[in-house]
Amino acid sequence: MTSKIDLYREVQQQLSAVFAGERDGVANAANMSALLYEALPDLNWAGFYFRRGAELVLGPFQGKVACVRIALGRGVCGTAAERGETVIVPDVNAFPGHIACDAASRSEIVVPLIQNGQLLGVLDIDSPRLARFDQEDGIGLNAAAALLMRASDFPDR
Ligand code: SME
Repeated sequence: MTSKIDLYREVQQQLSAVFAGERDGVANAANMSALLYEALPDLNWAGFYFRRGAELVLGPFQGKVACVRIALGRGVCGTAAERGETVIVPDVNAFPGHIACDAASRSEIVVPLIQNGQLLGVLDIDSPRLARFDQEDGIGLNAAAALLMRASDFPDR
């Protein structure tokens, strides 16, 4: 069985190949959401919210229709964005203020996207399995997010 570390190493290689020769941020984020959704087991949502002022606005994703606007500081996404830190939630029902977009979600990880010291948005991943995400997912997804930030240009917020 492939270990999580090996899986994230493969993901990193595939992302490098997908981003090669393309710097459009929305295009790269769209392909990244598709790649993560296919590559990582037990997910029901994988995608992006981009910051516009004091709000996060839905970006490219895979999964069910999701809420469009989240205020900074609200929900798991807004909390990760406000703190500028990865947030891992083993049980979304035990997270005060969790915003339920897909009732199937049981656990969640949100990684902030930082480019040139600015909060650009968040990468949000949901699973129908309790406690699906751990520190290894945090490390792997932070590396993936950092690669997207290096490889892509985004419009000014
Ligand atoms: N659960 C998130 C909202 C986004 S959806 O999961 C796609 C939150 O609490 O911020």
